[in-house]
Amino acid sequence: MKRIGIYYGSKTGTTKNIAKRIASMLGVDEKDVHDVKTASPSSVGDYDIIVLGTSTWGSGEVEDDWYDFLDGLEALDLRDMDVALFGCGDETMEDTFCSGVGEIHDRLKETGARFIAPYDTIGYRFEHSKAKPDDALEAEGLLLDEVNHPDLTEKRLKGWTALVAEAAK
Ligand SMILES: Cc1cc2nc3c(=O)[nH]c(=O)nc-3n(C[C@H](O)[C@H](O)[C@H](O)COP(=O)(O)O)c2cc1C
Repeated sequence: MKRIGIYYGSKTGTTKNIAKRIASMLGVDEKDVHDVKTASPSSVGDYDIIVLGTSTWGSGEVEDDWYDFLDGLEALDLRDMDVALFGCGDETMEDTFCSGVGEIHDRLKETGARFIAPYDTIGYRFEHSKAKPDDALEAEGLLLDEVNHPDLTEKRLKGWTALVAEAAK
């Protein structure tokens, strides 16, 4: 079984709560769930798979605490690392829904990390997201809307964590 670390940035606690639910579904210990506000980027070296989550703020940006952490991650060689992305947003912000996820994806491109667990957006209602290029069939990770559709979250989490669990075998 590969070692999984979960990292989140969260302003009002929504993404933090989802990070904990993901940990529970994947059997990840509490000590391996990290707030990027206080975690050291080099700690990702303890894991084979890192699960990175952000909410989206401003006009489609990552949650503030991610900026310093991403600067640190970008400086690392992540060629042996699998990276799974998730985000929390609000679909009514239909041009930037969960765009923070796309921001993390773009920032880590040069590190050589392998992105795993892209996820479908069937049943979603948004126009654009940086996390899903318009010509792509899937988003770059799991996109959640706890503002308008918390009822859909459990099913989406189950489907997506199954992909991460498969990669961790
Ligand atoms: C001022 C403001 C701007 C926001 N901008 C976006 C946005 O551009 N795209 C999006 O999907 N959600 C946006 N949201 C919604 C938040 O991402 C959403 O409420 C999220 O669940 C917050 O998670 P957190 O508590 O983990 O930070 C915005 C919310 C606020 C209050």
